[in-house]
Amino acid sequence: MSSVLVLGAGGQIARWVIERLGGTKGIGLTLFLRHARKLRGKAPANARVVEGDVLKGVSLAEAMEGQDLVYANLTGGDIDAQAKSVIAAMKKAGVERLIFITSLGIYDEVPGKFGKWNKQMIGEELKPFRRAADIIEASGLEYTILRPAWLQDEDEVNYEITEKGQPFKGTEVSRKSVADLIVRIIHSPKLHLRANLGVDKPGTEGDKPSFY
Ligand SMILES: NC(=O)c1ccc[n+]([C@@H]2O[C@H](COP(=O)([O-])OP(=O)(O)OC[C@H]3O[C@@H](n4cnc5c(N)ncnc54)[C@H](OP(=O)(O)O)[C@@H]3O)[C@@H](O)[C@H]2O)c1
Repeated sequence: MSSVLVLGAGGQIARWVIERLGGTKGIGLTLFLRHARKLRGKAPANARVVEGDVLKGVSLAEAMEGQDLVYANLTGGDIDAQAKSVIAAMKKAGVERLIFITSLGIYDEVPGKFGKWNKQMIGEELKPFRRAADIIEASGLEYTILRPAWLQDEDEVNYEITEKGQPFKGTEVSRKSVADLIVRIIHSPKLHLRANLGVDKPGTEGDKPSFY
């Protein structure tokens, strides 16, 4: 049995991941979120729900006990503080595998006109995400950092990845696609170990996402 802790389990990508892993034999989910009412529908049979804030150590420490993998679907201007808190709880509980979602643009890796637009739109918000990524990379944990393109909610799985150091490709990607990549890693935790991946939909290169 593999025990997976989902942090920010009411988040929009997390919902797809939970739907895919709900009822999966051999996987036990702990769904950690600030308000249980934000879960989409009923928690699946292989899940337990824990209400808590990742910045509040006690509930996080309790949820962390006995986990094999942590998938963090968090956000906010304090995402760097959240990353620190998650890492500290993982180390204390002896949990090593972490999947953490950040954003495109944290390394100024988005080229051209779209890169400029992206910086104008979210440049300031990216700073704490960059700090979070730096903290995770320095943590010594077995991490995978994901940097999705602008997120949309098409019911499709269609994505490509870029490595750290490569220019980012497309402008957008579906949340369902990012969830697919996360589910693959949860099933095969050695996949994309210590990787830091851009995720975009092939063929969406342009000046802006199509929905802007
Ligand atoms: N929107 C885009 O185009 C875009 C592009 C690239 C990357 N991203 C990033 O990708 C990530 C995942 O996206 P998403 O759409 O799934 O995000 P989302 O729906 O906003 O989910 C983020 C979750 O983080 C939770 N959270 C925030 N602070 C927390 C804390 N202290 N303790 C526990 N939970 C906390 C929120 O819970 P509450 O419901 O309690 O607030 C929320 O459910 C986010 O970091 C997002 O910023 C977004």
